[in-house]
Amino acid sequence: MANSDSRVTIHMAASLDGFIARKDGGVDWLETADEFAAGETMDPAFVEAFLKTIDCYVMGSRTYETALGFAAKGLGWSYGDKPTFVLTSRELPRIRETVEFYSGDLAQFVNGRLRPAFRSIWFVGGGRVSAQCLRLGLADEVCYSILPILIGDGIPFFDQLEGDVALHLVEVKAYRSGMVELRYEVRR
Ligand SMILES: NC(=O)c1ccc[n+]([C@@H]2O[C@H](COP(=O)([O-])OP(=O)(O)OC[C@H]3O[C@@H](n4cnc5c(N)ncnc54)[C@H](OP(=O)(O)O)[C@@H]3O)[C@@H](O)[C@H]2O)c1
Repeated sequence: MANSDSRVTIHMAASLDGFIARKDGGVDWLETADEFAAGETMDPAFVEAFLKTIDCYVMGSRTYETALGFAAKGLGWSYGDKPTFVLTSRELPRIRETVEFYSGDLAQFVNGRLRPAFRSIWFVGGGRVSAQCLRLGLADEVCYSILPILIGDGIPFFDQLEGDVALHLVEVKAYRSGMVELRYEVRR
């Protein structure tokens, strides 16, 4: 039975032209040099408190492989000590005790396993997993951070949605870095 309090949020950062990574998976462009004088600054204490409200992360294997690459370069692990579920049909290295692999029916996994156990469930990419989550009607919320850059080509935010998804805009925030954060609720 699904926990009625639970919320599934899809969160990703993308270029203005809607890409989450270059074709080769590169995310070097996430570091931009813009400055929007009227924008808010990100308060590290707020970010820390906010991250504490997330109960678990879900990601596709390709996103996990990017995270593995970052960890191998000594750039750390972005998901703290929160349970992190990686969707994959392959055997991948398990670099932390908090990492768990899953293969199969995503709706059954989210509704049967995650919703009863966690309140705030964050899908952190990539495009294929985000689209799958929306196609199956599993997402409650989409958080889209638009960076001040166009990259021309790459991996799209939502890959093969196969239909319209109506949204309700809940919040807009503009940051000093030139990033705009849009938060939408998925309309049922
Ligand atoms: N800009 C951002 O905020 C952001 C965020 C996240 C990721 N990214 C980037 O996006 C790229 C990855 O995105 P992507 O769309 O190519 O891939 P992805 O969504 O990360 O991973 C897709 C893969 O996950 C596995 N998978 C998905 N659903 C599954 C299921 N139900 N059961 C079993 N396995 C399942 C499949 O791989 P296998 O079964 O073959 O393993 C599938 O090919 C990376 O370059 C990453 O760096 C950017």
